[in-house]
Amino acid sequence: MTQNDQKRAAAEAALAYIEPDSWLGVGTGSTVEFFIEALAATKSRFIKGAVSSSERTTKLLKQHRIEVESLNNVDRLPVYVDGADEVTEHGAMIKGGGGALTREKIIAAVAQKFICIADQSKLVSVLGAFALPVEVIPMARSYVARELVKLGGHPEWRAGVTTDNGNVILDVHGLSIINPVDLETQINQIAGVVTVGLFARRGADVVVLGGDAGVTTRVIGKK
Ligand code: 5RP
Repeated sequence: MTQNDQKRAAAEAALAYIEPDSWLGVGTGSTVEFFIEALAATKSRFIKGAVSSSERTTKLLKQHRIEVESLNNVDRLPVYVDGADEVTEHGAMIKGGGGALTREKIIAAVAQKFICIADQSKLVSVLGAFALPVEVIPMARSYVARELVKLGGHPEWRAGVTTDNGNVILDVHGLSIINPVDLETQINQIAGVVTVGLFARRGADVVVLGGDAGVTTRVIGKK
């Protein structure tokens, strides 16, 4: 199986978690694009519509004639489906490779259940080999970078990238994240940080991974 086949398999398996007649949170990235294709082909008529985590996802949902609703108009969001750059067996994730981390984190906070879909290469025992994205208010870029160096990281400005919210991204290399909840909390405290792409305080509830032997599912908190 190619990596794309694994992503597609995980994406298709996530259809089983959709709650009919409800709003559905939809993340961003190549794995989510497979999910949107599968959703459009099968279940889109059963959901009320989608809450989108990025302009890119909104465009794709609309191309597939799936209604997109503002999060502010949605009182209940049972399920959010999104990818990850890295995920542990405990459901902690690094996200934001596609730059959509802030809206992703907001939707994850609202959703009752976070379904993470990925190919097996994303499963790690310790987060941090993938550079940790941090969305920052533009005027705070240098200050935040200096603070991230104090935490042991090597921040790199993602040049030429402006997020959907008008901010910049620092990708932090060289971290070995032993305690993701603590690091998420610490980085959240730095003035000028909008969002850190660590999703540990609110991690995934279910991790659906596509691999060579098919799809494996981990329900976090259950053996
Ligand atoms: C975007 C994300 C994506 O979920 C993450 O980058 C994974 O992407 P892909 O499915 O393309 O591997 O966090 O901000």
